[in-house]
Amino acid sequence: VSDARPRGRSKRTRILLPALLFVGLSGGVFTLAELHLARPGVPKSAGAVVLGDQYQGGIVFSTTCASCHGEGGKGGGVGPRLAGSRIPIARVKAQIDAGGGTMPAALVTGTKERDVLGYVATILASR
Ligand code: HEC
Repeated sequence: VSDARPRGRSKRTRILLPALLFVGLSGGVFTLAELHLARPGVPKSAGAVVLGDQYQGGIVFSTTCASCHGEGGKGGGVGPRLAGSRIPIARVKAQIDAGGGTMPAALVTGTKERDVLGYVATILASR
């Protein structure tokens, strides 16, 4: 009679523990799914943008981008100022790939694009 209580408690623990584990695990999985950084549609982080030769990129910029964005990306009337704009480099790549406004898509691709990104990366933080 005296050991009826302890037995009852351990029985409850046997049910409670897996229940807590289940809630904890499914909660954790749900949180991870919510935080998932590689969700489709979310632009990749700046770490995924490959920067090429900034010297070559400077030449590409002068011939392909400066007509609208100005020499050194300092603003040219048509395109907005890029120098010192501090926008993420991933946004620059997205703009080059997709275009936007009057800026045509895919003005540069491949090595030229990587080089121009290498150059633009140096002017985003400048004044
Ligand atoms: C025909 C003119 C033109 C040319 C050439 C051009 N752009 Fe643009 N660019 C624009 C315009 C206009 C916008 C603003 C688009 C908008 O408001 O949606 C823009 C926007 C951008 C932006 C986004 C700025 C921001 O604040 O989000 C970036 C980055 C950019 N251009 C980079 C480039 C690069 C690099 C090149 C060369 C490969 C280039 N552009 C060539 C006209 C041009």
